[in-house]
Amino acid sequence: MLLALGSLTGCKSMKKNSTTAPAFSETPEERNARMGWWRDARFGMFVHWGLYSGLAGTWNGEPVKGGGMEWIQKKVKADTATYASKAIPLFKPKPGFATEWAKSAKAAGCRYIVFTTKHHEGFALHDSAVTDFDAGSVLHRDLVREIVEACRAEGLRVGFYYSLIDWHHAQYDFSLAKGLPYPLEKSSELAGVRDHAKYIDFLHAQVNELVSNYGTVDVLWWDFSSKFFEGDSAWRATELIAKVRAAQPGIIMNNRLYAASTVKSTGNEHEEFDISHGDFSTPEQRIPENGLPGVDWESCMTMNKTWGYNEHDTKWKSDEKLIRNLIDIASKGGNYLLNVGPKGDGSLPEESVKSLNAIGAWMSKYSESIYGTSASPFKKLDWGRCTQKKHANGTTLLYLFVFDWPTDGKLVVPNLNNQVADAYLLSDKSKKLAFSDDGIIKVISLDTATPDANASVVVLEIKGEPKVSERNE
Ligand code: GLC
Repeated sequence: MLLALGSLTGCKSMKKNSTTAPAFSETPEERNARMGWWRDARFGMFVHWGLYSGLAGTWNGEPVKGGGMEWIQKKVKADTATYASKAIPLFKPKPGFATEWAKSAKAAGCRYIVFTTKHHEGFALHDSAVTDFDAGSVLHRDLVREIVEACRAEGLRVGFYYSLIDWHHAQYDFSLAKGLPYPLEKSSELAGVRDHAKYIDFLHAQVNELVSNYGTVDVLWWDFSSKFFEGDSAWRATELIAKVRAAQPGIIMNNRLYAASTVKSTGNEHEEFDISHGDFSTPEQRIPENGLPGVDWESCMTMNKTWGYNEHDTKWKSDEKLIRNLIDIASKGGNYLLNVGPKGDGSLPEESVKSLNAIGAWMSKYSESIYGTSASPFKKLDWGRCTQKKHANGTTLLYLFVFDWPTDGKLVVPNLNNQVADAYLLSDKSKKLAFSDDGIIKVISLDTATPDANASVVVLEIKGEPKVSERNE
């Protein structure tokens, strides 16, 4: 809902050079404490939902080609008025939709939800005083509040995705925003007449509403910048980060107010990471082969080929693939942010619900091997993956995820210079497994059939911290 602009001009957050927020500084211990819940969580649900969801990948009765249907406005090159007139009538959130999301996320074993409060189309899901392109004005509802409340009722942490890119705002200067998408390809009529500073004021004001009016916000998920358009010149990022941290001291932010600078070299990937730009990095639709050592990271990935709902997309990943992605990411020290794209009425696609339930069924038996664990001490294991956790009396639990159950019943754990204290199946802790300990090679005898077709978990308890010979080779 739009208030008279006069009431905003006096507002501090609207002033251009406002530096009222104190500089943020913290010790490494404070940072670890702030990041603690997120690092332990390992698994969150991403939700892409906005006006595009009702369009469902169809424009003028025709399927629109390609993935990513939250970009449908760009794909069909529609101006914002045409887009809104077609999409708004199809966006009809049913009562209680958010409870369905939160319950499904919880059942899957997710510890947090990050949802789009505004995507590139510019439609805000909250009741915003600085625009009338929002759920407050159009639907007389505050969908952000509904979602936040539903998440809290299920004990989930809450994250706000916020698009820096804005295809609706009249002052968003797309002609400056090189490398970022815009529906009307750099139209010369529109270029050069926009005052981007005004858009930045709007962006700061809208974010201020989000971090002020909904209680604790656990994550802010910015999206996105290019190397030609980022940081202070694009978004007054330093000031924005300071304001958000002043309002929400415990918040965790991604680093997409800046373009990520990733350096890849034969399988080893490193990111030049500046923690003043954000807390974590966001590999998109991929899992870095050896994780991102020294950096907090979260891989965001879709269940099919789209973030926003597309009724034509049937390329669903199998439950096994999704479960193994979760394991793979945890074994490399990252978080998995798994996307769902609800329909225009807020309901989740049947296939997504089915997969979330399958992941939940696996997690109900094995979540101990995911939550609160850290990356594998092994560089590679032929039969699967590993995570680790410190245990009582100075021992370490190694969770061995067996993707390929050995046909000869012998699971070989190489290069491990520790004494074994115990070995058992996580699905049945009373079922101890025999092992031989021949120096650095341990062989665990598996005398059962695969306990879990998606991924079985064998626990190897070892004395001390893992000493693996090949780690740094
Ligand atoms: C990209 C896309 C966007 C999606 C996001 C998820 O930045 O523009 O549609 O929301 O990735 O990571």
